[in-house]
Amino acid sequence: MTELERKRDRAPVPAGWDYAPAPESRDVVSIEERYGLFIGGEFVEPRSGEHFTTISPAYEEPLAEIAHAGPEDVDHAVTAARDAYENGWSKLLPSERAKYLYRIARILQERAREFAVLESLNGGKPIKESRDVDLPLAAAHFFYYAGWADKLEYAFPHRRPRPIGVAGQIIPWNFPLLMLSWKIAPALAAGNTVVLKPAETTPLTALLFCDVVRQAELPPGVVNIVTGDGRTGAELVKHPGVDKIAFTGSTEVGKAIQRELAGTGKKLTLELGGKAANIVFDDCALDQTVEGIVNGIYFNQGHVCCAGSRLFVQESIAEPLIAKLKRRMTTLRVGDPLDKNTDVGAINSQMQLDKIRELVASGEEEGAEIYQPPCKLPEKGYYFVPTVFTNVAQSYRIAQEEIFGPVLSVLTFRTPEEAVEKANNTPYGLSAGVWTEKGSRILWMAQQLKAGVIWANTFNRFDPTSPFGGYKESGFGREGGLHGLEPYLEFEGGEAFGG
Ligand code: NAI
Ligand code: MG
Repeated sequence: MTELERKRDRAPVPAGWDYAPAPESRDVVSIEERYGLFIGGEFVEPRSGEHFTTISPAYEEPLAEIAHAGPEDVDHAVTAARDAYENGWSKLLPSERAKYLYRIARILQERAREFAVLESLNGGKPIKESRDVDLPLAAAHFFYYAGWADKLEYAFPHRRPRPIGVAGQIIPWNFPLLMLSWKIAPALAAGNTVVLKPAETTPLTALLFCDVVRQAELPPGVVNIVTGDGRTGAELVKHPGVDKIAFTGSTEVGKAIQRELAGTGKKLTLELGGKAANIVFDDCALDQTVEGIVNGIYFNQGHVCCAGSRLFVQESIAEPLIAKLKRRMTTLRVGDPLDKNTDVGAINSQMQLDKIRELVASGEEEGAEIYQPPCKLPEKGYYFVPTVFTNVAQSYRIAQEEIFGPVLSVLTFRTPEEAVEKANNTPYGLSAGVWTEKGSRILWMAQQLKAGVIWANTFNRFDPTSPFGGYKESGFGREGGLHGLEPYLEFEGGEAFGG
């Protein structure tokens, strides 16, 4: 890099680049004042008699009253799912099952704008992400698994795959509709029925999905949605009528679920936290890498289990790379999720904002150097400025714990061996990134890194055909691809992929 280039990268971004507001219209969504539980193909009042308010984190504005499902409600939903399983769905011609899934996929595409706006309203993510990432991928998962529904015998030859029954599915708030799709599409394709519990802060797109289920004329009880908090989730986990639990969320709750299910014979898959290493070698394409780093940690406000939250930079390029990164951060637009120019939207909840603040304070206390670009945050709503920490030691909390926010910790290394050792020094193992022009080094690194997904010269790239999941405390089981069907099937002579 020449001195001139260095100077250019340090120069501030010209001031006065104001963007006119480009708000996406909210008119396309209509939100009910109050929602029941979706059981047996219709909305019913919760037997618990309890409701809670869901808000928009960007405006701190109440959006709707949501039912809180109690034990009786969960039992009601599991019974409806069991009935639907026994009386039709599991015996339906697989090619007929496929038709329903294709129909759901197409309706999601048709109603994509409505879903995208609602997702951003309820969860705080930028509209450009819900529109260009969450919705297309959600539809793609239904299309993909629709294709397997009548080909299971070919997917798992000589194994005689059959459905397992009722699946209980618990999802988090970072990708509400997408996580719903990851869970529901393979479960139905395999011939199961489901009871799904959305996260308490983001129930609205799951409730709108009930409308899609009706529009697709899916038989009643095949998909049931029970809203509520962790207590509702816990009821679903321990219900004896559930044959399989699929959970995505915190490692803490994942461990509790595993303890609860030990010895019950229920199947379980867990997709938990992460502290991914994004590893940058001195021969990388610098500008492209900076884009990848930004995408890796500031996408979806960093509320991403596979976020590239630990950046490992080869010492010889640390200085120019960090200069470029900081400069790029000054161009990130933080604010209203419904503005089409917004890059970083609202933090999902007050609770999550508190957690981010606490960990950032610990980073400063432990001695890391903080950088935040100048940035004016909206007065109302939960926001956090994109942050990078340099001078980070491996022992610091910000290098160890999942922050789940727009906060990057930068560490350095000299040799590939050192990079591997540091990258693997974590209880997690969900994802990793490698940036280098050398193909052989990419392959070598991919063999050494203990992570379920490894991206080379890209990050956060998803595809329904590709399995996703973790090692160690990031969980077990895979979602996506053929591997993602396996947990929803039983086989003659044991599991298809083992474990
Ligand atoms: P959480 O694990 O408590 O919540 C995830 C889902 O599990 C929600 O639907 C929740 O209602 C449900 N749940 C909570 N307690 C349960 C229980 N005992 N039994 C069954 N279901 C239960 O995660 P939370 O509290 O929202 O976030 C805490 C931290 O977890 C985040 O800061 C982040 O670090 C991590 N996280 C990781 C996610 C991932 O994608 N791997 C997603 C969400 C959070
Ligand atoms: Mg929790």
